[in-house]
Amino acid sequence: EKDKDLIRGSWESLGKNKVPHGIIMFSRLFELDPALLNLFHYKSNCGSTQDCLSSPEFLDHVTKVMLVIDAAVSHLDDLHTLEEFLLNLGRKHQAVGVHTHSFAVVGESLLYMLQCSLPQGYTSALCQAWLNMYAIVVTAMSRGWTK
Ligand code: HEM
Repeated sequence: EKDKDLIRGSWESLGKNKVPHGIIMFSRLFELDPALLNLFHYKSNCGSTQDCLSSPEFLDHVTKVMLVIDAAVSHLDDLHTLEEFLLNLGRKHQAVGVHTHSFAVVGESLLYMLQCSLPQGYTSALCQAWLNMYAIVVTAMSRGWTK
């Protein structure tokens, strides 16, 4: 319960500005693993982080990611209701060439964003609470990968 309160409390402000916070997260992701840029094939090209961040389709993806996080936060009491959705989301990511091992670096980028955005509120308890929720989301998505 304490974890849930920490997550809800921190998301309350972040969730109001999804795109800017999502941009911090993805900028960090591409810094840690630039090869992930190549998985975004949009009409407007995504050759560099800058190209990506100015591409409307990419910004739509940032919004999509933040909405999934928003859904997870809203469903902290019944995360299992998202399992089917997350499994399908995993399937779609396998289809676009994402590997499950990339979720570790996505998680790191998520923590980086929280750290930047909550300079006061970022504690080890908060970090652990988010990691626990993220692990549930990633486990559910990973079920969508087939060998
Ligand atoms: C769709 C890439 C992580 C949520 C997509 C698409 C690509 C993509 C290429 C299809 C085009 C599009 O809809 O924009 C990636 C890469 C990731 C990543 C490279 C990191 C390694 C995530 C994460 C989430 C997420 C962490 C949420 C937790 C979505 C959603 C869609 C999507 C909701 C739309 C699926 C649909 O059309 O039904 N992603 N993604 N993505 N992604 Fe990601």
